[in-house]
Amino acid sequence: MSKICINIAWPYANGAIHLGHVAGSLLPPDIFGRYNRLKGNEVLVVGGSDQHGTPITVTAEKEGSTPAAVADRYHAINKKAIEDLDIQYSLFSKTHGDNHIEVVQDIFMDLLKKGYLYEKKTDQYYCPKCRKFLPDRYVEGICPKCGAKDVRSDQCDWCGTTFEPGDLLSARCIHCSSDPDVRPTNHFFLKLTAFTEQLVSFVDSKDHWRSNVKTFTENWLKDGLVDRAITRDMSWGVPVPLPGWEEKAIYVWFEAVMGYLSTSIEYSKMIGKPELWEEYWKGPDTKHYYFIGKDNIPFHSIIWPAILMGVGGLNLPYDIPANEYLMFRGGKLSKSRGGAIDIPSVLSKYDVDAVRYYLSVNMPDTHDADFTWEDFRIKVNNELV
Ligand code: MF3
Ligand code: ZN
Repeated sequence: MSKICINIAWPYANGAIHLGHVAGSLLPPDIFGRYNRLKGNEVLVVGGSDQHGTPITVTAEKEGSTPAAVADRYHAINKKAIEDLDIQYSLFSKTHGDNHIEVVQDIFMDLLKKGYLYEKKTDQYYCPKCRKFLPDRYVEGICPKCGAKDVRSDQCDWCGTTFEPGDLLSARCIHCSSDPDVRPTNHFFLKLTAFTEQLVSFVDSKDHWRSNVKTFTENWLKDGLVDRAITRDMSWGVPVPLPGWEEKAIYVWFEAVMGYLSTSIEYSKMIGKPELWEEYWKGPDTKHYYFIGKDNIPFHSIIWPAILMGVGGLNLPYDIPANEYLMFRGGKLSKSRGGAIDIPSVLSKYDVDAVRYYLSVNMPDTHDADFTWEDFRIKVNNELV
């Protein structure tokens, strides 16, 4: 009997999850978890709501609400949808919780003490008209690598490239459409470059990775790692645990990935076995799997492993099965761009097993898959029935 830790990508709590999330990153780990339990393996399944960052604050501004209200409302909605879909987590947690914040701040201080974090003045987008710094999703423009339009200033959803301020072409402020300036501001950086050798040999040994994950990661390493800013000029997020940093927050991607660990700790406490998480995170026989969408690859194959290496003594990812996208009428199913198929309305019409069956035979595991109600009907009536 072996131990399996199944880590599931954290959906942003800025909208209701839809069938794209289910096919992309929620259903595959549930199938894998059930399979392992049947085999008699011990399984821990962790994940939750990603409640920080500009996805949440932009939605809150649009709704005329607060980030906390948005984050908690969609956490409740998504937790319920996941239960209704019969997806079995050990614990579905959230990042705006005391346990997670404490774990993140501890790791921050640990990496700082070890010299893996450092402070640096850096240029960030600033809107002269709105008089605000514009982190991540507050700026949109054209991807310099693949030419996609309306991509956010932190990452291109289409080719996966991550950006530094200034990289985007025809950048504009999402509020007033003016050309942003770049202004100097102080931030903490993660010394990714310190982990180059370790990361190269970590990835080298992974012959069982899917080719999309392995190739993408190898290309990132070949292009050369750069140290990354891990704080932002915004107040919503995990506070930087140092005096004088009250106006800034820890970058959402730096802390959300720590949720896998924090939730394992939280679950262990919850069931009255506070040491249980160590068996999964330190035991030599535990394998860690991360089920994610393809836009999440570098954060799980490079940044999170680097953080784990910096902390030391914790299990690194064994496999990172990243799925492609589920497409609907030729476009990406995306709650942040409209066109969503939400879970309550789907489940009010169809049995959960019919939905799970169709998504599992039409899964975007090796290439984008097309969702159509016509194909759903055919597959369910001709195969499942
Ligand atoms: N919220 C991110 C997304 O929807 C995924 C975060 S996964 C985690 O793309 F690793 F950061 F937790
Ligand atoms: Zn691109």
